[in-house]
Amino acid sequence: MPSISRRGETMPESPIRKLVPFAEAAIKRGIKIIHLNIGQPDIKTPKVALDAVKNNTLEVLAYSRTEGSESYREKIAAYYAKNNIHVNADNIIVTTGGSEALSFALGSIADNDDEIIIPEPFYANYNGFANASGIKVVPVVSNIENNFALPPIDEFEKLITPRTKAILICNPGNPTGYLYTREEIKKLAAIVKKHNLFLIADEVYREFIYEGREHYSILQEEGLEEHAIIIDSVSKRYSMCGARIGYLVSKNKEVIKTALKFAQARLSPPTYAQIASEAALDTPQSYFDDVKKEYEERRNILISELNKLDGVVVAQPQGAFYCIAQLPIDNADVFAQWLLEDFNLNGETVMVAPAAGFYATKGLGTDQIRIAYVLEKEDLKRAVHILKEALKVYAN
Ligand SMILES: Cc1ncc(COP(=O)(O)O)c(C=O)c1O
Repeated sequence: MPSISRRGETMPESPIRKLVPFAEAAIKRGIKIIHLNIGQPDIKTPKVALDAVKNNTLEVLAYSRTEGSESYREKIAAYYAKNNIHVNADNIIVTTGGSEALSFALGSIADNDDEIIIPEPFYANYNGFANASGIKVVPVVSNIENNFALPPIDEFEKLITPRTKAILICNPGNPTGYLYTREEIKKLAAIVKKHNLFLIADEVYREFIYEGREHYSILQEEGLEEHAIIIDSVSKRYSMCGARIGYLVSKNKEVIKTALKFAQARLSPPTYAQIASEAALDTPQSYFDDVKKEYEERRNILISELNKLDGVVVAQPQGAFYCIAQLPIDNADVFAQWLLEDFNLNGETVMVAPAAGFYATKGLGTDQIRIAYVLEKEDLKRAVHILKEALKVYAN
């Protein structure tokens, strides 16, 4: 039989995927599952976006421009300007999701065996994108005890080698919910400038920030123009995960020129989805205010309910819609499977994401889970109650 590639063999599986057969079997047994494991928002997509596709009169569904349509990129630049990020349409490449922006960014800046430093726990697919580009992920540990704040900057410095090309952060973080402060961004800016590295910031959750805090983007930081690459997406912002539209933003002309070559190889981002995403930029502010209020309330309920559980430590998320909880168990993989296979409370159980898959360092996060609060408040409350009862049974 012809053999598959080593790269293919080492391509990591989604940390949640292995639980899917157990979830399917539970459903067949008639068990209802409350999904705390996925980041698919339940919020409605703005009507303007859906209507733009319904009402358009295209006769040929043609390719768009490789870098995304001119009008869309200009509107994106205007959106950034409103957020105090001053870029123009030429600094933006529209991609097929933030996912493609990530792979273009890594492909444009790093070669085989080059290294990227990422605070862990991190969005698990960074492992996949790095693997696909032959890049080594070098993790720097952040801790639940201080909400997964930026690790001390000398921890980064210790890890920098001649092969280091970039530091990658997710702000606010998936899976941590941590929002980097202006001071933390300044520290990162100083170190990437000192060592001539790129700073990639995945800002796809920029809009979801709580307690009246403000997001500070790496492109607001002066002097970082040649170093900064932003990864962005419409998926969560407008509850449009299925549109598959994102963007790579950089003022570094070489980065844009190079990423454009990767973009040319895949011809263009999807045309209908760009029409929807361009219209989504006209979403009234009241939509975001409502959505943010809803997530903040959910967050408050989830965290206060989790804090009532014995032996559970939970990080206080300041943004995005995830949190990491540390449970009084040894192995969250085994526990998550047990929840699906062997436990139910009045016919219901919960599905959680074991957090070990969000760490690159083996052995870290084994007693932690990630919870996504993209469910109605009542469901979240019930889910934590089920978790509480499950932990009692599991302890015995
Ligand atoms: C942190 C982060 N970055 C990037 C993505 C990719 O999003 P998309 O490709 O849907 O834009 C996700 C999706 O969940 C995410 O959580």
